[in-house]
Amino acid sequence: MIGQIKIEKTNSPKTKPDQSNLGFGNYFTDHMFIMDYTEGKGWHDPRIVPYAPLEMDPATMVLHYGQAIFEGLKAYRAKDGRILLFRPHKNMERVNISNDRLCIPPIDVDFCIEALKELINIEKDWIPTEDGTSLYIRPFIISTDPFLGVRPSKTYKYIVILSPVGAYYPEGINPVKIYVESNYVRAVKGGIGYAKTPGNYASSLKAQMEAKKKGYTQVLWLDGVEKKYIEEVGTMNVFFKINGEVITPALEGSILAGITRDSTMELLKSWGVKVTERKITIQEIYDAHANGTLDEAFGTGTAAVISPIGELNWNDNKITINEGKIGELSSKIYTTITNIQNGDLEDTLGWTTEVKA
Ligand code: COI
Repeated sequence: MIGQIKIEKTNSPKTKPDQSNLGFGNYFTDHMFIMDYTEGKGWHDPRIVPYAPLEMDPATMVLHYGQAIFEGLKAYRAKDGRILLFRPHKNMERVNISNDRLCIPPIDVDFCIEALKELINIEKDWIPTEDGTSLYIRPFIISTDPFLGVRPSKTYKYIVILSPVGAYYPEGINPVKIYVESNYVRAVKGGIGYAKTPGNYASSLKAQMEAKKKGYTQVLWLDGVEKKYIEEVGTMNVFFKINGEVITPALEGSILAGITRDSTMELLKSWGVKVTERKITIQEIYDAHANGTLDEAFGTGTAAVISPIGELNWNDNKITINEGKIGELSSKIYTTITNIQNGDLEDTLGWTTEVKA
């Protein structure tokens, strides 16, 4: 038994930001959820407390060896007033997949969903309502032993913070320019690529910065061994529509099993569109473009939902996809997923969970 959640409310609530100019990850709500783990005791002391800096010993293990995981999901305020979470079980189950890879003890999925609902309820006035906005939820776990030897920590903190957000990319749903990365790699099979852990994001920064300097929003990651097979795009999963068929790289250990990726595949199947998970080479994309069968390309992720790819640059060979415009299918997937998320469309797939007062 983890115990009752203690609640300590803030005495100084913040002024809420302007909903039309949120950007992504700039603002944080008044409260956060925390619980601790101690070896031999398990997870304990769950509490909702005022949002505040954490005090840490400089030797705290996470600061040195990065033994940590995180998640990202969103809460929406429907027009009828309901508060909706999108597939929260998937995120919490993925916490335990990431935890296992990082030698972090598992969490109790159902307890963490209940705790999340309790936190959201306290912060419900922070859920933005303008089109394209939501309350981004960032659960994360850090290793907290003050110790410099390399081994799994014996203590951890599980924390959830909340951030009202708008679009992830300034481009919004407009197509982005993507640089095909042939030098740096994101992950290899046997590594940590399938876990949602800070190291994967730290290792991606250099390529992202170099691509930016060349005028590209993000990179397309190729496999770490042959630099031939497509893996992910930026921090997102990637899909290509070729000759009416939608193809996405198969999950073989180096790719994150995205929840928007899974939702996109389920939707496409429900619409009768052929979806295939398999290895796909960058050459195949260029060949499809050359013979006129590359219809659309897009990334999927919680933060941006759908991000169409308008241009690819692979070793200075540039191709424009769908005339640099948002594809019909990309647009339909974006509209359907966001409308299920925000309650505008009936959720026939059972993806949303209501947060009740
Ligand atoms: C997502 O697409 O949701 C991500 O993983 C991006 C996040 C790290 C901000």
